[in-house]
Amino acid sequence: MNTSPIIALDFEDRDTALSFLQPFGQGTFVKVGMQLFYKEGPAIVHQLKERGFDVFLDLKLHDIPNTVKSAMTSLALVGADLVNVHAAGGSAMMEAAVEGLDKGTAAGKERPKIIAVTQLTSTTEEQMQQEQLIPKALDESVLHYARLAQASRMDGVVCSVWEAAGIAAACGDGFLKVTPGIRLASDEAHDQKRIATPAEAARRGSTHIVVGRSITQAADPIAAYHEITQQWKGLDGR
Ligand code: C5P
Repeated sequence: MNTSPIIALDFEDRDTALSFLQPFGQGTFVKVGMQLFYKEGPAIVHQLKERGFDVFLDLKLHDIPNTVKSAMTSLALVGADLVNVHAAGGSAMMEAAVEGLDKGTAAGKERPKIIAVTQLTSTTEEQMQQEQLIPKALDESVLHYARLAQASRMDGVVCSVWEAAGIAAACGDGFLKVTPGIRLASDEAHDQKRIATPAEAARRGSTHIVVGRSITQAADPIAAYHEITQQWKGLDGR
């Protein structure tokens, strides 16, 4: 699977997203989230694929197993390379999601990879304990969800960089660890809490990084993308 940094296309509409992507080459990995998908529908994924981009469709499904299964059958037809659910939906929901994807994938075609969100990278341990009533350390909850996700046929998880090494030890290097909350040392954290640099992500066992505002709001997005890619791929002499 493409291991380039995944650019989060958190834009209000298709035209803004496509004009932002103009200088980016084929094979760039992009993420379509709720904002763009709810505005533009499946057509945005088709248009990105036609232009040669790989697409992570980040809709974070979380509902009863039967509903998630049917939704995944529909999503398989949309043509994304990677989709996701919330691990908090439970093992039956995750297994149903995979069944739904398998059902919607045409014979001979590879089904999209599917990963589970553990704890959002905007969640703190205090919030998790007080609002979700999980009386554990945050990394324990994340690791528990990762194990559950693997046992429920997920290809990997979304987690923060700080949990990736523990998940690699428990679930193996091949299990995807897709990590948002990435910032260059000079950037603002915004609403993200468990942040790390691309170089830290590479060292700590992330298999993919998701980067939004550090690229999309940079004065020079292409330069920011290249700097992040260099740090991530270790071309900076590390
Ligand atoms: O701008 P920023 O780099 O913070 O964007 C991160 C992107 O990753 C957003 O699109 C956000 O929805 C997504 N994401 C996240 N944390 C997760 C899962 C997805 O930040 N656990």
